[in-house]
Amino acid sequence: MKRRQFMGSVGATGMIGGLSAPGLLTMTNASLAQGNDIPVGLLFSLTGAVAVVESTLHDAALMAIEEINADGGVHGKQLRPIIEDPASDPATYADRARRLMIRDKCVSVFGSYTSASRQAVLPVTEQRKNLYWYPTLYEGRECSRNVMYGGAVPNQQQDELIAWAIENFGPRFYMIGNNYVYPKEENNYCKTLLSKLGGEVVNEEYVPLGHSDFSSVINRIRSEKPDVIFATVVGDSDVAFARQYHAAELDPGKMPVISLTRSEVEVKAIGGEAAAGHYSSAPYFMGHQTPENEKFVEAYKSRYGADQVTHFVSEAAYFQVYQFKAALEKLDPSNITPEAIRDAAVGMSMMAPQGEILIDENLHTHLWPKIGQWQTNGQAEVLVQSEERIAPKPYAAYDGQSCTGQGLVKA
Ligand code: ACM
Repeated sequence: MKRRQFMGSVGATGMIGGLSAPGLLTMTNASLAQGNDIPVGLLFSLTGAVAVVESTLHDAALMAIEEINADGGVHGKQLRPIIEDPASDPATYADRARRLMIRDKCVSVFGSYTSASRQAVLPVTEQRKNLYWYPTLYEGRECSRNVMYGGAVPNQQQDELIAWAIENFGPRFYMIGNNYVYPKEENNYCKTLLSKLGGEVVNEEYVPLGHSDFSSVINRIRSEKPDVIFATVVGDSDVAFARQYHAAELDPGKMPVISLTRSEVEVKAIGGEAAAGHYSSAPYFMGHQTPENEKFVEAYKSRYGADQVTHFVSEAAYFQVYQFKAALEKLDPSNITPEAIRDAAVGMSMMAPQGEILIDENLHTHLWPKIGQWQTNGQAEVLVQSEERIAPKPYAAYDGQSCTGQGLVKA
């Protein structure tokens, strides 16, 4: 991958937020054959352990729906959001998804943060031939035809990052993650890169989800003296880890944390002082200077409060609603089904706050990886930005397997 140190602005060829994306049909005045509005499900936890992040995804998706409605809706119909709160419980995600897809006849459902919740919804959306718009970075190794994947997969967050970290800090990596599928698969991919690039794993540790006492982890880090802490701890655990790392006076100048999950919303909870000097890899940071992002951030703050932050998962929750709208606009309004929406969305490009994104035939998204260093004001300074949009490879760690427009292909 080519990379550019110290980002500049990205050229605009179209935008979301009321204007059409390049190459899309313009809105027609035709009416939908049935119904007065278009029901869409919002399945983000507003209570429970993951509410701290999922409530911001809910807010961003709802804001996009309301912007679209204020602008006349789609085919002259309003989008009707039907809100469910799965209370951070995987079985409840499946139950509420079923309700949204069957009882409420939603033509798409937008939802969730953790891979555990996506995996709970997967059999429901596949069985119902519905469409689940999932905005979160995740581990890949999945190739559903009924999920639209808006977040980064490992190659999009790590290819740039690992080479850059070895070059800048050294080859000895200490892996710390929560104990579930996402961190384990990210670490597997990291190991394949380390072995190609001459790096090594000093330790690989997993703590339970929600774990909040990192004193023994920090003691081991202190005695191992790795060059880099490679972190895939999520949510409250990441907040606790960052605070305790800072309180233990471990110096980011000597042992920086590079994170795949830490965004502006976790940094807000950690506090700028404790987060400062560490790094994250993400396709979007709040300070990105494009007209599309300035509009997004301004709208978000004016709606939810000047102290609120946008981040790489809420950006995807926002742009996926616009992708949905653009796909609907391509359809005959008398023939709107979830799978017709999916087929219309494939190959579609659109100007998002992070840059121009594209939906691959494998239903994952081409994104713009960046590496940012956290500052005391809670914002990231972007140090590296890829010069090109990076294609998603959900099976990059698995030789001979790939996710294509026909589903999973094994050599
Ligand atoms: C994740 O669980 N996909 C962060």
